[in-house]
Amino acid sequence: MAFRIAIREDAELRLLEEHHASGIYRLVEANRARLRRWLPWVETTRSAEDIREFIRRSLEQFARNEGYSAAIWFQDKPVGVIGFHPVDWSNKKAELGYWISAGVEGKGLVTDACRVLIHYAFDELKLNRVEIRCATGNAKSCAIPTRLGFQFEGMLRQAQLLWHGYLDLNVYGLLVSEWADPKHPSRVQVLR
Ligand SMILES: CC(C)(COP(=O)(O)OP(=O)(O)OC[C@H]1O[C@@H](n2cnc3c(N)ncnc32)[C@H](O)[C@@H]1OP(=O)(O)O)[C@@H](O)C(=O)NCCC(=O)NCCS
Repeated sequence: MAFRIAIREDAELRLLEEHHASGIYRLVEANRARLRRWLPWVETTRSAEDIREFIRRSLEQFARNEGYSAAIWFQDKPVGVIGFHPVDWSNKKAELGYWISAGVEGKGLVTDACRVLIHYAFDELKLNRVEIRCATGNAKSCAIPTRLGFQFEGMLRQAQLLWHGYLDLNVYGLLVSEWADPKHPSRVQVLR
């Protein structure tokens, strides 16, 4: 089942598999303070076994054709995770989520990884809409859909409860009709 997709010469996506669990958990531990500020699952992730359980659910999701989660690898090391929330087939839409290690922020790796998943959503799954939701205060995350040409569609007030309180979430959407434009910023040729 394993697959790899190159996103750059020194970076690729690898389908998350159970043997990645301890490496990913080490990354979560090293980045816990900044991740827990924005991601609700961090509080309940207390061991590599919790990550293994997440990976099992992701693989089941992939087997149901509801999208996948991948580790982002940079210079031969895992540095983050990107994936689909389960695809909403009734409405032909999907939502993306991501995080990356502090040491490799600012290189455009997540933006490039999003392009690969957008390509998969539109060209392979034939979905109509891809969505990204980010907390209003999470400027680095909000910059990603903006950079990729998503439209800002609105803000959901107090839509996510974290340990430090409710977060307002910005909703960004991209439609296949917009992405079909060859000049669209999220459109890239994915080489296999
Ligand atoms: C949100 C998060 C993934 C953003 O990471 P990031 O490194 O800023 O995102 P990218 O990999 O797309 O990199 C973009 C940055 O690289 C720069 N960059 C360099 N080369 C680039 C390239 N080829 N393409 C795009 N951007 C590039 C951009 O200018 C930008 O830098 P800036 O922030 O100084 O403007 C990261 O901050 C994170 O993991 N945060 C904690 C968890 C989190 O909030 N997850 C999201 C919840 S909604």
